[in-house]
Amino acid sequence: PPPVVVFAVNGERAVVRCDGAGDVDPGASLLEFLRSRTRFTGTKLGCAEGGCGACVVLLSTYDAAADEVTHATISSCLTLVNGLHHRAVTTTEGLGSTRKGHHAVHKRLAGFHASQCGYCTPGFCMSLAGALVGAEGKGKVAASRPQPLEGFSRLTAAEAERAVAGNLCRCTGYRAIADACKSFAA
Ligand code: FES
Ligand code: FES
Repeated sequence: PPPVVVFAVNGERAVVRCDGAGDVDPGASLLEFLRSRTRFTGTKLGCAEGGCGACVVLLSTYDAAADEVTHATISSCLTLVNGLHHRAVTTTEGLGSTRKGHHAVHKRLAGFHASQCGYCTPGFCMSLAGALVGAEGKGKVAASRPQPLEGFSRLTAAEAERAVAGNLCRCTGYRAIADACKSFAA
């Protein structure tokens, strides 16, 4: 591994030493890092084993050979900090906030009353946002579409549903969530 891992979290630089001499364990999960070392605690711990979607974030990677950025939604509980060199992480706070203005996925989930306790909501937001910027399912890096994160592309209803297939909600029926997701369908 490189002597230090340098990556971005919502546009802010993060540096983690890999020699064990720093105060962050490079073998820690990204979820642990986000929740203990940043103020971006919207990303939640659910199962810690990739099964619930509460910890989903967007990971962006620049491919120099192709000169393009690709995006993938990932489970941050299964992603180690030492694998993030030169990558960019976007959490729900990076999509938007009360101060910067909320992203369309935030507004849509709120507008459809698709959140109760809210614990699962950031994960749903990121899975949906990932689909809207061209990610094709968790863990896979897909060809990027040109839309910036602030914008969104159109999905089919099936794509919208598939985007959140890995996200669990312990509060709701899924009707309102599905309706919010499908509202992005062409
Ligand atoms: Fe459940 Fe990561 S905490 S998938
Ligand atoms: Fe409570 Fe989904 S709104 S877990």
